[in-house]
Amino acid sequence: MTSVTAFAPATVSNVACGFDVLGFALHEPGDTVTARWAPSGVHIEGIDGDHGRLPRDAAKNTAGVAVMALLKALGETRGISLHITKGLPLSSGLGGSAASAAAAVVAVDALLNARSSQEQLITYAYEGERLGAGSAHADNIAPCICGGFVLVRRASPPDIVRLPVPRGLTAVVIHPELEIETAKARALLGTTVALSDAVKQWANLGALIHSLHTNDFALMSRSLEDTIAEPRRAPLVPGLAHIKQAAADAGALGSSLSGSGPALFALCAGQASADRVAEAMTRAVRAHIGGEPQTYVAQVAEQGARVIAS
Ligand code: HSE
Repeated sequence: MTSVTAFAPATVSNVACGFDVLGFALHEPGDTVTARWAPSGVHIEGIDGDHGRLPRDAAKNTAGVAVMALLKALGETRGISLHITKGLPLSSGLGGSAASAAAAVVAVDALLNARSSQEQLITYAYEGERLGAGSAHADNIAPCICGGFVLVRRASPPDIVRLPVPRGLTAVVIHPELEIETAKARALLGTTVALSDAVKQWANLGALIHSLHTNDFALMSRSLEDTIAEPRRAPLVPGLAHIKQAAADAGALGSSLSGSGPALFALCAGQASADRVAEAMTRAVRAHIGGEPQTYVAQVAEQGARVIAS
């Protein structure tokens, strides 16, 4: 093999009550990375779709750092060159840095025919994510690699719980014309939470996980509440409460920020409901934020990052 191309999907992390520990993968959009042999070292030969904004120095690029971690772990001395095609907008809350890192390690793993486990791939991609977000969390990386809903019981070394996806569960993801850097959104959170907020959060998270196992959309709807991160980040997204209300009025099971925002997600029971919710949220975003948002309606993807050409 002389080159391998891998695709890695957008992910919604936190999922309201699972700050830093829960996420799910979407079918689309996503990032694509092509890996080729190089004489030595790791190189970024090109990046499309970032308007020149991402670092071309591999040591400062999430995909480059993730591949360096993989090569080091495997004791591989041959070099790699990467071409990244960004399908995900930057600083959007859709897991873009995780997707580039995940696609890169999946492509290079296949090029080397190394057959690493998903846990090993998560470990390598996590090194890239640490660089991108300014701190370590695996709630984008893990669903990006594994697909479906994933609970991160521990990020490093990874202890990953793969969860079922209820039939018909459909996600709406809407990306307003705003950018929020994850590191800045994390700085808003502080270091302490009130015990009463923590109690609500872990009650909701336990119930949400149960609802995934039992297809209980009513319980899921009651559980989609974030008492910790969303209230502190709300000022970053004008009209957030109105946009969420529009989603609820249109029949969403629940909605919240996707990761650290500014993208929002809603979970819906079926495609028809999701289409109505997408329309209502799009109108609300236009009214409260302005500009033209990108709106996606997608099933939760059972499959995560994967090779698409070799
Ligand atoms: N769980 C992380 C956060 C995801 O909310 O900061 C960032 O993409």
